[in-house]
Amino acid sequence: MTPSATQTLNHPGLGAGHDVDVREDATPVHAEDRPDAAWWRQAVIYQIYPRSWADHDGDGIGDLPGITSRLPHLRALGVDAIWLSPFYTSPQADAGYDVADYRDIDPIFGSLTDADDMIARAHELGLKVIVDMVPNHSSDEHEWFTAALAAGPGSAERERYMFREGRGEHGELPPNNWESVFGGAAWTRVTEADGKPGQWYLHIFDTKQPDFNWEHPEVRAEFESILRFWLDRGVDGFRVDVAHGLIKEQGLPDTEEERTTMLGHSEHEHGPEGVSEAAPVEEAPRIDHTKRSPMWDQDGVHEIYRAWRRILESYGTPDRILCAEAWVEPQERAVAYVRSDEMHQAFNFDFLTASWIADDLRAVITSSLHAADSVGAPSTWVLSNHDVVRHASRLGYAPGTPRMNGISATDPQPDRELGLRRARAATALMLALPGGAYLYQGEELGLPDSTDMPDEFRQDPTFARTDGAETGRDGCRVPIPWSSQGPSLGFGPGASTWLPQPDVYAEYAVDRQEGVEGSTLELYRSLLAARRELSLGTGSLTWVEGYAGDVVALTNGSSQRDRLLVVTNLGEDAVALPAGAEVVVASGPLEDGLVPTDTTVWARWS
Ligand code: NOJ
Ligand code: MG
Repeated sequence: MTPSATQTLNHPGLGAGHDVDVREDATPVHAEDRPDAAWWRQAVIYQIYPRSWADHDGDGIGDLPGITSRLPHLRALGVDAIWLSPFYTSPQADAGYDVADYRDIDPIFGSLTDADDMIARAHELGLKVIVDMVPNHSSDEHEWFTAALAAGPGSAERERYMFREGRGEHGELPPNNWESVFGGAAWTRVTEADGKPGQWYLHIFDTKQPDFNWEHPEVRAEFESILRFWLDRGVDGFRVDVAHGLIKEQGLPDTEEERTTMLGHSEHEHGPEGVSEAAPVEEAPRIDHTKRSPMWDQDGVHEIYRAWRRILESYGTPDRILCAEAWVEPQERAVAYVRSDEMHQAFNFDFLTASWIADDLRAVITSSLHAADSVGAPSTWVLSNHDVVRHASRLGYAPGTPRMNGISATDPQPDRELGLRRARAATALMLALPGGAYLYQGEELGLPDSTDMPDEFRQDPTFARTDGAETGRDGCRVPIPWSSQGPSLGFGPGASTWLPQPDVYAEYAVDRQEGVEGSTLELYRSLLAARRELSLGTGSLTWVEGYAGDVVALTNGSSQRDRLLVVTNLGEDAVALPAGAEVVVASGPLEDGLVPTDTTVWARWS
């Protein structure tokens, strides 16, 4: 055990007489991976949202030189790789997920030289670099789209996007009933050269994000060339945006579904009302898998990723990787993206969306491992990203509260202390699981969402497209507090930040937590150090029987070392550890040697 992994413990020893009679199941749920498994099968990957991590030039927007200067923070944290959300040339209509030039850097973030410097510095520090690839749509300011508008109906240029004639007598109705994920119609009608309303183009997201036509060979060739462009610059892989959206059902038939959001189905009609602890647990709406949406998860996407995999493999070892952002259910269909000749990883959104209920967590861990094992892929785990309410805030509501697309000042507010306590326990559970894990910037500080941002600052297109019915994702995208003093809390040299930082962010600043026993930052460092030392990413997983149903207990085992016992107590009463268990890390203080509510403990158990 490295000193940093044990240093912050200082928990009272186990009280005598507290032993509990527990035992492992006969059969592991998941067998151990090879000790020499490729890096990505066990990697912890830290998501940097470039706009909000570190600002070097003082314009209030994070940038590449800012990122480069702060990379030592990640080396000290103990992650394996970074994934950066898009930094390409973009009008920023969807915070860079609207790309105008895939081979250049937006001036707000810097230059290609800055990107090269960032990649080189990360590599020097032993961090791999994954960049975001956005193939479903471009910006409407991409040169192909402006050329398509200019060239007119029937032109070869329009074939690269999804242009169609409208319905109705004069083409005045959209070609079908699809709705944008961000609200409103998924079609926009263009004005043709003669000044008259003309064809419509498809955009699953914002009006400024026209969908490419992936049946077109030029689109395929272009993206293969873009992948090579970035691989040649030294990147270690790609996170693939909307990986399940590229191919649409032939004929673009009407859909019978309600609108899908980033999280699956539309939920903006469900507010967080009535979310006191006594609130009944609502069933999340289930997708009817017999009626797959014509927009999503069409079988044709897979041959695209097979071709991409071949390109990545041509770069040799260490492996360059692909990670799918695919909100696909059920898990059997989701793991098709990580078959051995396709992508390496896919985000596990079932884990992210699971409720803070022991049965649900056990079920999703088991099913995720089984599904991934069925195709020989590692599972991944994630709790937060730039599209969802941070888990320190999400878990501050009653378990089972329907998911929210942002929290506004008029919503019931989450319990910040409770949320953080559970978030720390949830992260400690997650980092004990075999496979890869994704962390989102700021979660290592225990950051909550901004939950009282004035509306005039909101920039997520969802807010405007739903007339404010959905708050949107700005709350999880607020610039990081590096220091508790200073006008932008150390985010940049100036006072400005593109989204306002809530006052409470000063309490969470890096300089308040560094070296402070029991801080969330030191907890993450301890967890990551112990995870690495014990090779938990390649371990086996076995459930432990004998606790009450509201305790999640498992072992992460390996033929090379002692088993690690992991106990997450979601019940009200504190629970004991078995005789001989020796605490390695705990997400919060033990009480008289017992594991209290909303706490996770890792313990050696021989
Ligand atoms: C998923 C990204 O994570 C999200 O931020 C973006 O708005 C959509 N894809 C559209 O690109
Ligand atoms: Mg800047």
